[in-house]
Amino acid sequence: MAEIDWLEKMQSTLTPARVAHSLGVAETAAELAAYYDEEPERARLAGIVHDLAREMRPADMLAEALMRKLPMERIERQAPLLLHGPIEASRLAEDGLHDADVLQAVRLHTTGAPGMGRLAQIIFLADAIEPTREYPGIEELRGIAKDGLRVAVATCLKMQLTHLASQGHLIHPRAVATYNSFI
Ligand SMILES: [Fe+2]
Ligand SMILES: [Fe+2]
Repeated sequence: MAEIDWLEKMQSTLTPARVAHSLGVAETAAELAAYYDEEPERARLAGIVHDLAREMRPADMLAEALMRKLPMERIERQAPLLLHGPIEASRLAEDGLHDADVLQAVRLHTTGAPGMGRLAQIIFLADAIEPTREYPGIEELRGIAKDGLRVAVATCLKMQLTHLASQGHLIHPRAVATYNSFI
């Protein structure tokens, strides 16, 4: 499938707000890729498809993850939304998208992972700072996004983990491991 097909699929699958978010991630990721000497078209594609599975019902996410034999820890059973990246990466591979870096970026965009590549770092960051996002500290993070990919990912994780803990939410152990490896 060419990119235009993924774009159409995304636009026909997601609600308008999440279409706007996904387009924002695609554009932000393409800009970051150009800035960091990566390939903007691959970053744009990853942005377009990264949340395709995001609007499934949590019970369906659990069932599909089991069917696809995706790795699951206790936290995914408690918070199935964490599975939308891995589910979508598995579906994309099945549907003929074989760019390993794009698949990794989709799979890891919610938690990151200690060894994630630069395209995955770009999507992780773009997901947090695209233009429709709005939360305290985002302008500072948008500035830091150009100070180096690793420092930007570390700062983004610091903000996310702090926010999650302050709200009493679960934190995926992989997100903590990612933070530890990036600071
Ligand atoms: Fe997502
Ligand atoms: Fe997203």
